[in-house]
Amino acid sequence: MCGIVGYIGKRDAIPILMDGLKTLEYRGYDSAGLVGFKGEEVVFEKAVGRVANLDEKIDKHGGFSGNIGIAHTRWATHGGVTELNAHPHTGCNQNIFLVHNGIIENYQKIKDKLIETGHRFYSETDTEVLAHLIEELRDKDNILLEDAVRLALQKIKGTYGLVVVDKRNPYKMVIARNFSPLILGVGKDEFIVASDATAILRSTSSVIYLNDGEIAVLEPDKYRIFNIDNEQVDRTPEELDWDIETAKKGDFPHYMLKEIYEEPEAIKNSIRGRLDLENGKAVLGGLSSIKEDLSKIDRLHISACGTAYIAGLVGEYMIEEYAGVPVEVDYASEVRYRKPIFGKRDAMLTISQSGETADTLAALYEAKEKGILTLGIVNAVGSTISRETGAGVYQHIGPEIGVASTKSFVSQLSILALLTVYIGRKKGMSLVMGKRILDELSRIPEKMERLLKLNDGIKELANRYAGYNNFLYMGRKYNFPMALEGALKIKEIAYVHAEGYASGEMKHGPIALIDKNFPSLIICPQDSVYEKNISNIEEIKARGGIVIAIGTEGDDRIRNLVDDVIYIPKTLEMLTPILVSLPLHLFAYHVGVKKGYDVDKPRNLAKSVTVE
Ligand code: G6P
Repeated sequence: MCGIVGYIGKRDAIPILMDGLKTLEYRGYDSAGLVGFKGEEVVFEKAVGRVANLDEKIDKHGGFSGNIGIAHTRWATHGGVTELNAHPHTGCNQNIFLVHNGIIENYQKIKDKLIETGHRFYSETDTEVLAHLIEELRDKDNILLEDAVRLALQKIKGTYGLVVVDKRNPYKMVIARNFSPLILGVGKDEFIVASDATAILRSTSSVIYLNDGEIAVLEPDKYRIFNIDNEQVDRTPEELDWDIETAKKGDFPHYMLKEIYEEPEAIKNSIRGRLDLENGKAVLGGLSSIKEDLSKIDRLHISACGTAYIAGLVGEYMIEEYAGVPVEVDYASEVRYRKPIFGKRDAMLTISQSGETADTLAALYEAKEKGILTLGIVNAVGSTISRETGAGVYQHIGPEIGVASTKSFVSQLSILALLTVYIGRKKGMSLVMGKRILDELSRIPEKMERLLKLNDGIKELANRYAGYNNFLYMGRKYNFPMALEGALKIKEIAYVHAEGYASGEMKHGPIALIDKNFPSLIICPQDSVYEKNISNIEEIKARGGIVIAIGTEGDDRIRNLVDDVIYIPKTLEMLTPILVSLPLHLFAYHVGVKKGYDVDKPRNLAKSVTVE
């Protein structure tokens, strides 16, 4: 998400800051900005979009070579993606400049007071308040910058990684940290501060990790650390044992591959602290305000788009089978145009990684308009959908940059499993069943790690199949939606025409397509519908079709039936879609790469679709 870089020393600050911003690009952001001083002279630029846009603006300042500056990449939370909302932020007199990661919870109250004393605000951000507050404190009593920062931080509630400079003293920088990472790189007569060690490594490996509530004042040849109560803190730098190359996105040729490799971690982050294994219950704090109403619902409507919609379909199977609640899943884009029947005790669940998808938002508004209970599964904290739903569950997986959703999808599936237990246990699911599901869910990340070892094999498989123009993906029950997911991914990433079908529907149409040029990928784990899927495989083989299967480890029978098989570890039937995701994602990725496409930014697609 947001990234911070600051420099004070003897070298030219701007190239160091720009280099730092580029290193932080992998975190995802929507705008960037920088301020640098050389005596009285100031370079202050912001740009929406890529760091390269900022670079162009900075270039226009030609020979500027100040020795102090701060820079930021922003990932919007409070306020839209605009230059005004981008950091650095400044006060009324444009002397104080700062960059900030985190959230100032009580910003509105402080802002109102500052407006009363004559401050004028230009942005919608919570951060701008800090700039005015520090300005107010510093200028009113003519106190030191570090004292003004400390007094300001005493007044705010929230989280911060903060770097502050004052044009009137271009030889000083003040930094502070509270629940938002900030690392101080200590060089020879210089300091580089950043939210992520990767942006420091090029200059020094000697670092100080600030603790929460600590503030540091930096001058080119000395530093002092103290806490919010102004007590001195003694810290010595430590060596950062990191290889610069492995710390960069450069390890992965694409974000998509990086994010597929992050799938096990994404699930861990989404279920962390949410499994009460002893009582077989899911702990979903974000739903506590609607707990009673949720336990009484007659029906759950799920609305979402793209991959999130497919997650919703898997959720339908889970919730109906284990929580006993009827579920209806809609493409969000359809909800407002058909006439959905919402009963008084119905609820709507919206699922969205970005929390900004226009169609999903419209479906949510429709449900609110009809007065039913609303809840969400959302990744982007503070996004519109997260604010507009009555209650919800955050995914906690960090930014997803590849346009096609991968780690977000498995995270959503794991949260839907939690939701199944959450609702199910209030609706008569036994303690034993609750424990079983949660216990198995806790083992999924480790099984996903094992699946990652298949990457080379799947690459080889993808290379062999990359020449086909059509694919049929099929599965039953929990893995029917996964057939849709497999087909969607290969369409998006590799521009291959693919159909996703419920295996049972094969005889009602798709079987006519089968020949040696139309391979099928059948998801066929050893579950309650295994034999049915095997019959489908036999029917395809009898017609000369090619079959790749996803089967369960140890299933030798399937190996003898199909052309190629990818094995996944055994798990509960309802959780197989999570394990199936990873090979499907890898397969689509490698076919796309083999065909030479930009898999991170497929043509015509956007990561966050904010128009209808
Ligand atoms: C776009 C993305 C998909 C995503 C869908 C819904 O189409 O390319 O990967 O699944 O939007 O996005 P959301 O942010 O609502 O999950």
